[in-house]
Amino acid sequence: MIVHAIALVLDIVLFLSLYSDAQRVLVVWVGRRGEELALRFSPEEVYANVGDQVQFQFYPRNHSAVQANFERPCVPMSNATTGQGFFSGFRPLLLDTKTIATFTVNITHTDPIFFYCSQGRHCQQGFVGAINPLVHTHLHLSRSDRGV
Ligand SMILES: *[C@@H]1O[C@H](CO)[C@@H](O)[C@H](O)[C@H]1NC(C)=O
Ligand SMILES: *[C@@H]1O[C@H](CO)[C@@H](O)[C@H](O)[C@H]1NC(C)=O
Ligand SMILES: *[C@@H]1O[C@H](CO)[C@@H](O)[C@H](O)[C@H]1NC(C)=O
Repeated sequence: MIVHAIALVLDIVLFLSLYSDAQRVLVVWVGRRGEELALRFSPEEVYANVGDQVQFQFYPRNHSAVQANFERPCVPMSNATTGQGFFSGFRPLLLDTKTIATFTVNITHTDPIFFYCSQGRHCQQGFVGAINPLVHTHLHLSRSDRGV
């Protein structure tokens, strides 16, 4: 009886350690919210661990995901210390497309990562998001900075 109980506890501990070490793929829709196409990321904020992947999935018509600094949310990140940010490239898709276009970012640290869509004035219209933001309100702050 006791042996069985210990075995069960060990099983649970093993399961939890495997589960927490498991690499997760966190999906972010680009250009869709709920059932509708929209000039938004969904979700706009994701919380990722080192080793996880964030996979952007693109919807019509023609969007991108570009890394930015928080201070300049609509400008591609370029930093002599930390290097270039990511850029998915533009992903033009017809409205009736069945293609799934994706772009994956490997998470190697848990500092905040900000990103936006660089099509036209989509960013200025609030088409922004973040991985591991420190405060939940940053999107509202960055939008009000831009008069959105
Ligand atoms: C570059 O990255 C470093 C380290 O994160 C940071 O201290 C510095 O302010 C950044 N420079 C610019 C111009 O963003
Ligand atoms: C997608 O958008 C980019 C940037 O505006 C543009 O250069 C490209 O021609 C567009 N592609 C299509 C197929 O519309
Ligand atoms: C991200 O990780 C995957 C597998 O874990 C690897 O195949 C891929 O090359 C990595 N991408 C980058 C940009 O490092």
